[in-house]
Amino acid sequence: MAGAAVGDVTELGRYAVRLATGAAELVRSHPAGRSRIATKSTGTDLVTEVDRASERWLVEQITSDRPGDAVLGEEGGERTGTTGVRWVVDPIDGTVNFVLGIPAYAVSVAAEVAGAVVAGAVCNPVTGEVFHAVRGGGAFLGATRLGGPRDVALERAVIGTGFGYDAAMRERQGVVAAQVLPRVGDLRRIGSAALDLCAVAAGRLDGYFEAGLNPWDRAAGELIAQEAGCVVIGLRGGAPGPALVVASGTGLAPALTALLDALGADRVLA
Ligand code: IPD
Repeated sequence: MAGAAVGDVTELGRYAVRLATGAAELVRSHPAGRSRIATKSTGTDLVTEVDRASERWLVEQITSDRPGDAVLGEEGGERTGTTGVRWVVDPIDGTVNFVLGIPAYAVSVAAEVAGAVVAGAVCNPVTGEVFHAVRGGGAFLGATRLGGPRDVALERAVIGTGFGYDAAMRERQGVVAAQVLPRVGDLRRIGSAALDLCAVAAGRLDGYFEAGLNPWDRAAGELIAQEAGCVVIGLRGGAPGPALVVASGTGLAPALTALLDALGADRVLA
């Protein structure tokens, strides 16, 4: 970590909240109904003018307030920096929900220092909820400290998951999901990985797993879940990553990861 410019993690956390709530305000004031929609990696991977405007606003703010910081954004906003801080931003996580008017989408902002996420904020523009955390400081929903999910056996646990935009990958994910379903209490597919991870932090889901996530989908949410006391891992003792992210309470983690391991849930990428 490179000195005072990057050292104030609390300030990075405050700034992450300011960015996420500011971009969420912009998203709230631009309904999807009036926005032009384009596709990206596949015909179901959507981007709207509002995603682009939200990311533009985020990058402009960072460039003007913290000109030496780097940025990585879902919609192509990428800037190198000199301070060792990188902002990883998703201007709308859950774009399909945004387009359909399902109120489960969010702006996600994370600050990395020397490659490790140290602060994050996730704001749902519809509910106004702001989840946030700094490394070592706990996780919060607004001012309320989060403590992760209840202690529950796998066969009663409600588990969130998500699916990619590639049809062949979704077929493999569907096979895994079909085998998970009878072994857990129920499954949810909410449609925003950032909110799924925050839902585990807040005890609204008992656990969550997904393959194929990008850094901007998961950076802030993973920190928030970890700071709420959750286990956030990959399989076979590995770190969470593109192959798989698993999040749950500590009691559920061994059974959930053993099940996902047996099903090869981290082997579904194209
Ligand atoms: C998507 C959402 C979705 C998840 C996908 C992500 P986007 O992000 O988080 O829940 O299942 O894997 O790509 O495209 O809406 O920013």
